[in-house]
Amino acid sequence: MAITPSPVPRGPVTATLNFSHPPPPGVTAVNYVEDPPSGEPKRNLAINPQPVQINDIRGRESEFSLDHDAFLPIPAPAPANGEEEEEEAEEVNFDDETSITKTYYPQITALLLRHVPGATRVVLFDHTIRRASPTAKRGPVLLAHVDQTPKSVLQRIHRHLPEDEAAALLARGTRYRIINIWRSLNKNPVESSPLAFASSASFRAEDAIPVEHRYPGGYTGETAAVAHHPDQKWYYWSGMTPGERLLLECFDSASLGESGSTEVRGGRTPHTAFVDPRTRPDAEGRESIEVRALVFGP
Ligand code: OGA
Ligand code: FE
Repeated sequence: MAITPSPVPRGPVTATLNFSHPPPPGVTAVNYVEDPPSGEPKRNLAINPQPVQINDIRGRESEFSLDHDAFLPIPAPAPANGEEEEEEAEEVNFDDETSITKTYYPQITALLLRHVPGATRVVLFDHTIRRASPTAKRGPVLLAHVDQTPKSVLQRIHRHLPEDEAAALLARGTRYRIINIWRSLNKNPVESSPLAFASSASFRAEDAIPVEHRYPGGYTGETAAVAHHPDQKWYYWSGMTPGERLLLECFDSASLGESGSTEVRGGRTPHTAFVDPRTRPDAEGRESIEVRALVFGP
C-alpha cells in the first residue's frame, strides 16, 4: 500500500491573527454574549488583523510550563506494556451532558491535581463544545483573547464555591488559578482551525484590554481582548490528537504577588483559533471541548 503523506500542517507558519484595537479614551469595551440591545453593536472594539509567525511546539512539549508560559501541553499517556490504560479508561459520550459531567469531569480533576504544581482543590465550573459546522451552537473563536481578568476571577470564586469556603480560601491567601483544559474531539489529528496561544512571558499586561462580557439575564463577566505587540511569541500544537490535553491558564493569583511567588510570568495566555493557509480546503472541521477550572493551592 502506498504511504500517503500526512495532510496535517506541521512546523512554523505565518498566519493572520485577529487582535483588537484599544477603545477610544472614556469608552468601555463591551461584548454581548447573545443579541445586543437594539441600536448597539454586538462588540464595540475594532479588529486589527495582523500576520504573525506561529511556531509548532510538537516535539518540544517539555520546554513549556504553566508558571513561565501559562500553557502546558500534556502528551497522550503511553499504554503501559500493552495493558489497558488505567486512567481515562471510561469512555465519555461528548453528545451527552451527563456523561461529560459524570465521567469526563472527574478525569479532568485528576489530571489537574497531577499536572498543576501545588494544586490541592479543583472546581470545574463550565465547558464549551465547539464544532466548525455552520449549524453548531459554538464554533472556533477567531479572535485573540484571555477568558478572564482579575475582577471576573474573584466573581467566579464567589459564584462557584460555598461562601464560607470562598472566604476561608481567600483569607488564608491560598493561590488560585483559572485553567482551561482543551482537547480535540476529532478522531483524526486536528487539521483545520487549530488553536494558537502566546507565551505569558512574552505578553505585556498593557496589551490585555478589559471587555465587559454581558450575558442575557444580567450577569456581566469580564474578559480581555488582546492588542498586538511584535514581542508576543505565538505557538500552536500541530495535529493535536484526542489523547492530548492542552492546559491554558487564564489567571494566576501568584502573578499579582499575592502568594509570594516571583517565578510566575503573568499567568495568562492569550489564545485564538486561526486559519492555517496550508489547510486543505476539504479538511475535516475541527471539533473540541474546553473545560474551565478553578484550581486552588498551595
Ligand atoms: C478556549 C477558547 C477557542 C477555540 O478554550 O478558551 O477560547 O476556538 N477556545 O477553541
Ligand atoms: Fe478562550
